[in-house]
Amino acid sequence: MSRSWPRLLTRGTTAVLAVQVLLQPVLAGGFLSGHYDLLRMHMINGMTMIVVALVQGVAAVFLYRAGAPRSVLTHGFMVPLAIAATAVLGEFRLLILHVPIGVLMVIGILQMASEVWRKEKTPQVEARKEEVPV
Ligand code: HEM
Repeated sequence: MSRSWPRLLTRGTTAVLAVQVLLQPVLAGGFLSGHYDLLRMHMINGMTMIVVALVQGVAAVFLYRAGAPRSVLTHGFMVPLAIAATAVLGEFRLLILHVPIGVLMVIGILQMASEVWRKEKTPQVEARKEEVPV
């Protein structure tokens, strides 16, 4: 099974999640500055992130079946769960947990996106490294 479409899909979903998660503190900040309608956008953006992460989870299953490491599958399941947990904390206004975990989500999702978009090493590079005598 080729890795092409699940890999392309994962690149797409991680890019969308990266933009969405960067929007969350901006929308929250706007809400805290008195633009109360931005809380609704924060909520809608948060819920949409769960859907995008679920689509990413499906791609992760196909990537894993095509030979990708188990960590891809684990990430595929953990990311939608973590976003959903963050959203529940926001809905229940448990901000003492919601805000720090939300900030960690920003860092984690940006890191995941950079890993997914990092150029995949071609097999020759690996072989060439082995050949060079020290
Ligand atoms: C994955 C990231 C995040 C998700 C999914 C998320 C989701 C949510 C949701 C669903 C709510 C409830 C909205 C409502 O009551 O209508 C909420 C509230 C809130 N979130 Fe987030 N959020 C995220 C990240 C953040 C970040 C990074 C910050 C701040 C730096 C933040 C600050 C807030 C604040 C201040 C509230 C309002 C609580 C209140 O009503 O007093 N959130 N969030």
